[in-house]
Amino acid sequence: MSIPVIVDCDPGHDDVFALWLAAGHPSLELVAVTAVGGNVPLEHTSRNARVALTVAGVMGVPVAAGAEGPLSRVLETAEWIHGENGLGGPVLPEPTVPLDARGATELIADTLLAASEPVAIVATGPITNVAVFLRDRPDLAGRIREIVWMGGSTGRGNVTPYAEFNAWVDPEALAIVVGSGIRFTMVGLNVTHRALVTAAVRERLAAVGNRTAAFGDELLDFFCRTNDEVFGMPDGPLHDPVAVAVLADPGSVELVHTRLDVELAGTETVGATSVDFDGMLRREPNAWVATGLDVDRFWGMLAASVSRLA
Ligand code: BDR
Ligand code: CA
Repeated sequence: MSIPVIVDCDPGHDDVFALWLAAGHPSLELVAVTAVGGNVPLEHTSRNARVALTVAGVMGVPVAAGAEGPLSRVLETAEWIHGENGLGGPVLPEPTVPLDARGATELIADTLLAASEPVAIVATGPITNVAVFLRDRPDLAGRIREIVWMGGSTGRGNVTPYAEFNAWVDPEALAIVVGSGIRFTMVGLNVTHRALVTAAVRERLAAVGNRTAAFGDELLDFFCRTNDEVFGMPDGPLHDPVAVAVLADPGSVELVHTRLDVELAGTETVGATSVDFDGMLRREPNAWVATGLDVDRFWGMLAASVSRLA
């Protein structure tokens, strides 16, 4: 039995690998994709999601556009990592996967209503679309199996000293989703910084030898270069597929049930995620937080999943 999953994303290089892991892993059934403005504006992220599926030969999975920007802030983008169109590096093919006429909220609603079991949502960008969905369709919340999100950090940030990009772009949306009562898992930088694209990892993925792997290698070339320039990390951290791994192979990621809050109003710390491992705040645990990754198992599942694509 595979888990039906909706991927909500802002592709972005690492989002593409999250889509491929969700599409290619036998434990998952990718049932819908929604795009959000994040790494680059929505016109690019919604197109890039379609490009990612087109390259991988994944036809028949609907892709819808959602929010252009955060609930109550101006969108901040990350062209400095992902390039002007969000997928710097390869020449992008014209996507043959169409953009669904429905918006993200409608597509998620229809997907949940059509499913015979609760559907998981993996969010790999600012979590605006999920917050909007929960606000507009609270009647369907019970049909969501769980939400796994790449974002946040138990320690340092990557856009300000304490805020990770996805959390920082739309912290109000994050607060809504975490407060919804739906099982929520945060996969933050403290773990995704272990998913480093070393030379050996690049060889392992390229050795898959299909069209998807070749396109992926061009993406990784660009992504590692910008991570080196911006963060001094030549082995760029491939954040987003780690969130998919939580669902695909739960034994590959260690989780702790704890208290998660997000800073909405700090003068220097907006978007920082406060993870109260020691129970100092005496608040009820409200989230699962990733604390460890079986790195070799992760890259193995990603390579195997890519090998099942075109
Ligand atoms: C997150 O920000 C984006 O640039 C990546 O796609 C990832 O989702 C990492 O902070
Ligand atoms: Ca992303």
